[in-house]
Amino acid sequence: MRLEGKNVVVVGVGSGLGPATVYFLLREGANVMMVSRTRDRLEELKRQFSKYGKVDYTVGDPSTAKGAEAAMKAVAKKVKGIDGLALLAGTYVDTPLPQMKESDLDLMINSNIRAPLNALKAALPNMSKQSSVVMVASVLGLYGAAAGTVAYSATKAAVAKSTEVLAAELVGKGIRVNAVAPKSMNHDFEPERDWKKMRKLGDQACPPEDVARVVTWLITDESEWVDGVVIPVHGGARK
Ligand SMILES: NC(=O)c1ccc[n+]([C@@H]2O[C@H](COP(=O)([O-])OP(=O)(O)OC[C@H]3O[C@@H](n4cnc5c(N)ncnc54)[C@H](OP(=O)(O)O)[C@@H]3O)[C@@H](O)[C@H]2O)c1
Repeated sequence: MRLEGKNVVVVGVGSGLGPATVYFLLREGANVMMVSRTRDRLEELKRQFSKYGKVDYTVGDPSTAKGAEAAMKAVAKKVKGIDGLALLAGTYVDTPLPQMKESDLDLMINSNIRAPLNALKAALPNMSKQSSVVMVASVLGLYGAAAGTVAYSATKAAVAKSTEVLAAELVGKGIRVNAVAPKSMNHDFEPERDWKKMRKLGDQACPPEDVARVVTWLITDESEWVDGVVIPVHGGARK
């Protein structure tokens, strides 16, 4: 197991990438702390995943600085030294500019930019030396130009740039910062299924397992010489 005894905090645990990442981290021996806004979902996941290892949760909303500080303070009471931090919170709106409401833009900025940056800032005092941070950008924030996605694509491009800048800022503390950039992921996740049978190279969408495994690898020390990069995870579907 590549993460035996390591403490990993996963921020943003919904129905897809979050649960898949928690599952693979547990299978690698990590102690996992989930942070998200929906208590019922967190409770359900804790019940479902406890058979795979040590998993707990904190309810919190890092989209404000105050919310992130409260969440990471609660995490610090249970977790002494974070070895891995997966910042997965994010959401999507699909609106051409003329129809875009101010609330759409606020939602994209709050969920896709403020939540990961606030969470990382609040977690920093509790991060171990040699720890690893993983953010989630998107292929739409790296290349191509999908009409109608300006708010989403712009915030994901900002995540990609933040990854590089934060890696430069934190390298002296021994903290790595990387990101994955998925294309389309399906939202469903079921532990122990044979997900490889559900897709083939070149498909437009993948099960969340394909991205969660890269997130997990970035947290292990197998990737210890990888820092400040955004890894596209699209199975060859470049368009
Ligand atoms: N699905 C795709 O096709 C795709 C493609 C490229 C990138 N991504 C990115 O991959 C990540 C995971 O996406 P997913 O598709 O797996 O979606 P998901 O299942 O909806 O997971 C994201 C979770 O993040 C949490 N979240 C959202 N805003 C938050 C906030 N302000 N504070 C704390 N938690 C928050 C939500 O949980 P609560 O509501 O319980 O807090 C949500 O369930 C996101 O960053 C997404 O943008 C997804």
